[in-house]
Amino acid sequence: MAKKNTNASQSGRRKLITKLNPKSPISEQYRTIRTNIQFSAVDEEIRTLMVTSSGPSEGKSTTAANLAVVFAQQGKKVLLVDADLRKPTVHYTFGMVNTQGLTNLLTRQISLQEAVKTTDIETLNILTSGPIPPNPAELLSSKGMQTFLSAVKEEFDMIVFDTPPVLAVTDAQVLANQCDGTVLVVYSGKTEIESIQKTKDLLNAAKAKLLGVVLNNKKMDKTDYYYYYGTK
Ligand SMILES: Nc1ncnc2c1ncn2[C@@H]1O[C@H](COP(=O)(O)OP(=O)(O)OP(=O)(O)O)[C@@H](O)[C@H]1O
Ligand SMILES: [Mg+2]
Repeated sequence: MAKKNTNASQSGRRKLITKLNPKSPISEQYRTIRTNIQFSAVDEEIRTLMVTSSGPSEGKSTTAANLAVVFAQQGKKVLLVDADLRKPTVHYTFGMVNTQGLTNLLTRQISLQEAVKTTDIETLNILTSGPIPPNPAELLSSKGMQTFLSAVKEEFDMIVFDTPPVLAVTDAQVLANQCDGTVLVVYSGKTEIESIQKTKDLLNAAKAKLLGVVLNNKKMDKTDYYYYYGTK
């Protein structure tokens, strides 16, 4: 008998609501976030966007993947990059192997064309993390990272980065400094206000452009659902 998978969140293929049920109220919420991101920068278009949070398991990867999907559903050529080089999960979400990815690219072992994978959504492309390196922050602040960013901006309309938590390691700060915008995920009823404040200070110190906060797992009442169904 097959061994039961006891840690589905880490190893099982994840389901994305925006892919499975684009008309659901939750998918509508992701589209609202997409619109808000697009309106948040009037003078400069946001092309590189990173999603982060204060601590672990607040919904960074879920938010990053669903946002990548809704941008792609809008016809934008999107690259979702797993820049969580500590606990990568994008390859699980999309059921891909992760033998090669961002870390191989940053160390110039493979080309962008070799590293990027396509998905069943035509304009959505994925770059998995690649093997976990001993020095993630160093890699993410390397010259190779700058070269990578210029190269992907030539190829894609929107690049979405999934990242580790801000309060745990410096990686997200390092990335925030290089991205056009940062989205902070807060888990409703769980993330402490003090942690959010500390995270905001760290992001500001890194000169991040904080576009806004996504409140994850907020309970909506029935009238909210009705409203969203009514406007589809
Ligand atoms: N709103 C939600 N409702 C139900 N499950 C959720 C919700 N948001 C996230 N999850 C689940 O919680 C787990 C953690 O979410 P996710 O991996 O997106 O968080 P994360 O911040 O990326 O975590 P990590 O710090 O480990 O990278 C996943 O199994 C995900 O499917
Ligand atoms: Mg994650």
